[in-house]
Amino acid sequence: MSKKVEMKDIVNLSQTRWFVYPGSEIYGGLANSWDYGPYGSLLKENIKNLWIKEFVQKRTDMMLLDSSILLNPKVWVASGHVGWFSDPLIDDKNTKERFRADKLLEDLIEKLGDTAKNLESKYGVNNLIPESWSLEKQTEVMRGEKVANPNNGEPGDWTDAKKFNLMFKTSIWVTEDSSSTVYMRPETAQGIFVDFANVLRTSRRKIPFGVAQVGKAFRNEITPGNFIFRTREFEQMEIEYFCEPGKDLEVHAEWKNACKKFLTDTLQINEENIRLRDHDQDELSHYSNATTDIEYKFPFGWGELWGIADRTDFDLKAHMNESKQDLSYFDPVNNRKFVPYVIEPSVGLNRLFLTVMADAYTVEWEGEEARTYLKFAPKVAPIKVAVLPVVKKIWDLAKQVYAQLSEDFVCEYDEVGTIGKRYARMDEIWVPFCVTIDSTNFEEGNVTVRFRDSMEQETVALKDLNEFIKERLK
Ligand code: GAP
Repeated sequence: MSKKVEMKDIVNLSQTRWFVYPGSEIYGGLANSWDYGPYGSLLKENIKNLWIKEFVQKRTDMMLLDSSILLNPKVWVASGHVGWFSDPLIDDKNTKERFRADKLLEDLIEKLGDTAKNLESKYGVNNLIPESWSLEKQTEVMRGEKVANPNNGEPGDWTDAKKFNLMFKTSIWVTEDSSSTVYMRPETAQGIFVDFANVLRTSRRKIPFGVAQVGKAFRNEITPGNFIFRTREFEQMEIEYFCEPGKDLEVHAEWKNACKKFLTDTLQINEENIRLRDHDQDELSHYSNATTDIEYKFPFGWGELWGIADRTDFDLKAHMNESKQDLSYFDPVNNRKFVPYVIEPSVGLNRLFLTVMADAYTVEWEGEEARTYLKFAPKVAPIKVAVLPVVKKIWDLAKQVYAQLSEDFVCEYDEVGTIGKRYARMDEIWVPFCVTIDSTNFEEGNVTVRFRDSMEQETVALKDLNEFIKERLK
C-alpha cells in the first residue's frame, strides 16, 4: 500500500520530529515564518557545512566571505534592485485580496494548453511569458479573460496591476530626528561584488577564482508558501565565480555539473527527482548569457531549487559606474586588463533543506500499520550516533562513552524507555549508528554498534570506537 506524499505530511512530520516549528507560535504565529528545532538546526548546519566543504574547502580556487546584511543603499541602486526588483501585484476589489498577476496569468496559460497561443494575437503580445508583458497588458488579459480569484473560483474584479518592490526597508538614525533608509539585503550576491576589489587585492588570486557566501536574505514576497519553499526571511548559499570573458559558457557548464553532483553524490538526492532546465532566450535577463535552473520534484510539483546564471560583467560594471572605483582585473600573463565575467550558482539553504526532507521521507507498511522514516544519508543525518545504555547501573559509564564520541560526532544520549523503543526513535530519523553498552561488554572494554541500514551489530573496542565510526561516515 502506498500513498502519495503531500506537503502537509512533511509539515506535520517536521513539527512532531523537532525539525521545523511555526514561528512565534505562542502569539498565534507570524505568517510564513518558521523556526528550526533541535534536529532541524543540526540538519541545516550539516547541509551548509557540506556545501562549504565541497565548494570551498576541497577547492584551491574558492574563498569564503561573510558580508553585511545592511549595505550602503547605493549598492541596490547599482545592482538594479531599487529600480527593478519588484513583482506585479493585482487586487481583487470584491475580496480585497492581493495576488501576483504574472503567476495568475501563468496558471491561465497552463489551463488553456494549446489554445493559449491565441492570446498572442488577441492581445498583441509576442510570447506566453506574462512576466515579460507590460503592466497594462497583464491587466488587460486578467480582465479580458475574466481570470478567477484562485481562493473562491469566481472571476475577480481586478484593479490595475502595479509593481511592488520586494526589498524590506528599515532606518538608520543619523541624528535624533533624522534617519536614512537602508534595505535588508534581498540576496547575498551583491556583498561579494562590493568586496571584489578587497578580495582580489588581499588574496592575490589569479582568475578564474570564486567567492562563496552563506547568509540571510529578506524579500517581501506577496505569495510566500509551500512551507519553507518560499518565505520572507531565508538563507542563501551563493557563489560568484569570476572568469575571463569568452570562457563563461564553458565555466557555466562546469558549474551545472558540479551543483548536480553535489545533490546526487554528497546529499544523495534521488536523481529521478532532479532535472535541469535551461532558460530559453526570451526568458533570460538582459544581462545573462545563459541560465539553468536545477529543479526538484517537490510534493507540489517541480520547483526551482538552484539557479546557475552566467551574469556576464553586468554587476561589476554596474558597481564601477555607481562607485567610480576600478573593479577590473589585470591579467599578468597576457598583459591585459578586463572586467571579469561571473558565473553565479545560487541556492536557498532552506529550500535545499526541504529537498533533503522530501527526498528522505519514506513510508513503510508493516501489515496495516504505516511507519514513517526520514532516511537521511549518513553524512546528512542530523544525529550520527545514539548512545543507549541497556541498564540503569551503567548510565555513568554510558555518559563517558557519549563524552568520547561527542568529540567527533553529533550524538544523542537516551536512557528512557525500553531498548526497542529507543531504537525505534533513533530509526525514525535514520541515525546511522546506535551504540549500546551493557556491563559485561563494557568490563571487557567493548561496546556494541548497530548499523541502521543493515541492522547488523558488531562488537567494537571502546578505544577504537571513534575511528571505527569515522571510517564508515566517509
Ligand atoms: N543572486 C541571485 C538570486 O538571488 P534567485 O533566483 O532570486 O537568484 C536564488 O534566488 C535561490 O534562492 C533560489 O533558487 C531559491 O533556492 C532561493 N530563494 C529565492 N527566493 C526565496 C524565498 N523567498 N524563500 C526561500 N528561498 C528562496
